[in-house]
Amino acid sequence: MGSRDSMKNIAVLGSTGSIGRSTLEIISHLKDSFQVVGLSAGRNKELLYKQINYFEPEIVSLSHEKDADELKKMTFSHKVKIRYGQEGAEEVAGYSKNDIIISAITGIKGLRPTIAAVRSGKRVGLANKESMVAAGALINKEASKSGAEIIPVDSEHSGVFQCLHKENLQDVNKVILTASGGPFFHLDQRDIKNQSVEDALNHPRWSMGKKISIDSATMMNKGLELIEAKWLFNLPPEKLDALIHPQSIVHSLVEMRDGSVLAQLSLTDMKIPIQFALTYPYRKESALPSLNLSEVGSLDFYEADLNKFPLLRLAFKALRKEQYFSIAFNASNESAVNAFLKREIHFSDIWELVIEVTEETNKMEVKTVEDILNLDQETREKIRDKIRRRY
Ligand SMILES: NC(=O)c1ccc[n+]([C@@H]2O[C@H](COP(=O)([O-])OP(=O)(O)OC[C@H]3O[C@@H](n4cnc5c(N)ncnc54)[C@H](OP(=O)(O)O)[C@@H]3O)[C@@H](O)[C@H]2O)c1
Repeated sequence: MGSRDSMKNIAVLGSTGSIGRSTLEIISHLKDSFQVVGLSAGRNKELLYKQINYFEPEIVSLSHEKDADELKKMTFSHKVKIRYGQEGAEEVAGYSKNDIIISAITGIKGLRPTIAAVRSGKRVGLANKESMVAAGALINKEASKSGAEIIPVDSEHSGVFQCLHKENLQDVNKVILTASGGPFFHLDQRDIKNQSVEDALNHPRWSMGKKISIDSATMMNKGLELIEAKWLFNLPPEKLDALIHPQSIVHSLVEMRDGSVLAQLSLTDMKIPIQFALTYPYRKESALPSLNLSEVGSLDFYEADLNKFPLLRLAFKALRKEQYFSIAFNASNESAVNAFLKREIHFSDIWELVIEVTEETNKMEVKTVEDILNLDQETREKIRDKIRRRY
């Protein structure tokens, strides 16, 4: 991956989101090593416009044609190419000058752009976990064809990746992903049911986009991460586990067969794993303060309560099932979380609906991106139908 000091061209998919903005902060901190060539956003053309002015990318994309037309007028004095829609995001992802693509669009909408990035054979810093959950086998196949290098951005997976560096997979007994427990970890099962959107978004440790914040409140996020880890590290279900760690300082633990347990610790800031995905195999100075463990004081660990968080239980089941199950699991969750954020359903409806619809999904073979997206669409329709019948 070039030398320690060679300049790298970066494309950021989801540049206006939480991970995208943190990535751009790192790039401006390390501007002698990285430059932005491509940006892809959804609807936030105002922020994308500011990013164009500051980073001067060669190509950008928005999800809607109308927004792209307005952006063209706003940027008439720039040379930037402006694209739109899925094809636009895919063009940014596959842009020939990219060296590294950070894939940070939320949800299954990130799938095609992630695949385009992987097919280009470059380094992909993967934040878009939903793509790996729904299409892990296909993404890995594409990566081995193109030679793409997938480096995890999720803090837990970055921790595992760092612990596994130079280790043999057959020496690994268990990979344990930690979870803060989200905002409702201390509540009783019955008190969690009717939590409001505001309470569910109020994560105690991490500041993140809305969808992943709700996923953290239901602990679906840890479930998605377990499935993501299965594909990223080629691990069987029995070697994967989760542990509640409210301080979010230890991001993951890897137990080796000789009894050693390796761990990765850092401040609770996504800029650390994002920077690692950009600089790997080298390390560069961080702009963040050092981790002061005497200030943290104690590091606590608890078993996850699967009765309180039934989506985590379903994720353990998904680890053992074929791909169709994970696609339905992910799609039903995205659709239910959307409805919750629009205040159409209660908090507990999220897991009730996801469990019902995922369990009802008929087994099917999934081979292509189209198969995945068709099943994703069908599953969302089932959720919407159930919501209509409930309310
Ligand atoms: N945030 C974290 O700390 C964190 C940690 C680990 C993993 N992740 C993963 O990283 C991904 C991004 O999370 P986030 O928290 O950064 O989400 P976010 O803040 O909601 O940002 C999502 C990004 O995706 C863009 N987007 C949405 N629809 C799009 C479309 N159709 N085409 C192109 N871009 C589109 C949004 O654009 P607009 O805003 O312009 O509409 C925004 O830039 C998720 O998969 C999440 O699970 C996040």
